[in-house]
Amino acid sequence: MIGVILGTRPEIIKMSPVIRECERRGIDYFILHTGQHYSYEMDRLFFEELELPDPDYSLDVGSGTHAGQTAKIMTGVEDVLVKESPDVVLVQGDTNTVMAAALAASKLHMKVGHIEAGLRSFNRWMPEEINRVLTDHISDYLFAPTESARDNLLREGIAERKICVTGNTVVDAVYQNLGIAEKKGNVLKELDLEPREYFLVTAHRQENVDNRTRLKEILKGLEGVQREFSLPVVFPVHPRTEKRIKELGIGVDGLNLTKPFGFLEFLQLESQAKLVLTDSGGVQEEACVLGVPCATMRYDTERPETLDVGSNILVGADSQKILEAVRSIESWKSGWKNPYGDGIAGKMIIMVCAAARPPMTARGEC
Ligand code: UD1
Ligand code: UDP
Repeated sequence: MIGVILGTRPEIIKMSPVIRECERRGIDYFILHTGQHYSYEMDRLFFEELELPDPDYSLDVGSGTHAGQTAKIMTGVEDVLVKESPDVVLVQGDTNTVMAAALAASKLHMKVGHIEAGLRSFNRWMPEEINRVLTDHISDYLFAPTESARDNLLREGIAERKICVTGNTVVDAVYQNLGIAEKKGNVLKELDLEPREYFLVTAHRQENVDNRTRLKEILKGLEGVQREFSLPVVFPVHPRTEKRIKELGIGVDGLNLTKPFGFLEFLQLESQAKLVLTDSGGVQEEACVLGVPCATMRYDTERPETLDVGSNILVGADSQKILEAVRSIESWKSGWKNPYGDGIAGKMIIMVCAAARPPMTARGEC
């Protein structure tokens, strides 16, 4: 039996191909939702849109400090794992849910499979970097999306036999849902947008939005873009960012702030944008897969493949660099190759787990 553990928006999206594959193959599995994300548009909406089965267990841990949230997830996950005794526990990404669930499982001597293993920003200031490193080092199956992620793991002394390069399940999610999204409705029309004549923005990183100076600088850059190009800047606001904008009393001028979109709507908006500006991990990857240029409002990225293929540039939390990125967009080369695989990562991961054999013996064996 496979235990699928998730808790936040990107985990629901990137686990969806894995869950679909379990369903398709009639594999015995359960879903445990930690409840790290709980607002309708960060959680339930994705289960509905992606037609995922309801979680078998919901912990409702909610928001809190890092330690508080991690502790609640660990104790809740432990209870379920003791009851269900799965052969493999699967976690995806780098959130507190991932690290806490992996730690609880590994202390019960259960096999842990880490999907999206080996990403490194080499910036320990990010909570996600701590989560990634810890999770990788206690996992038994490391599903690395790319060769460079695999190399990071090898450099840290992780045994080669544990690592399998699968591609990223985000590609599966994009390929599986883009057609459905286009058939379901036309969000551009609803928002009165023309293809390639708007910018799409997301921002929620703790180090950006919890810092008044950085948040103000980002908003200044985005307002500058709207003024200079006279094109809509569509900005679905993450609840963390919404809270910070309100708390800090920061005014936002000329931007189209909206509630977060569902995945189907967001995919349509991403695929037709002139440029995506973001600090999200998943959005950097999706823009790359969809062939849309991306400016990342950070000083580093754990997705260097996007920089290498030329789909992404780093502009920091710097209003001037944000503006310069947009000014330079016409000179960007298009037609880069998607470095994140063929959209069969979910299938590969479940093939390995279903075989429930000891850790892999060689690179690429799966
Ligand atoms: C978390 C992850 C981050 C991931 C992001 C995806 C960690 C450390 N961070 O960040 O890696 O990129 O999810 O979106 O695990 N809130 C709501 N409703 C919700 C969820 C959050 O209102 O459904 C608000 C609360 O005020 C909460 C704040 O957002 O305090 C932050 O939520 P939290 O889950 O701690 O971190 P994220 O910023 O969402
Ligand atoms: N996303 C969405 N609606 C939005 C913004 C983002 O469905 O309004 C999706 C996006 O397509 C991607 C995921 O959310 O798949 C990224 O999640 P997020 O940026 O919250 O987290 P990160 O990837 O940085 O961990």
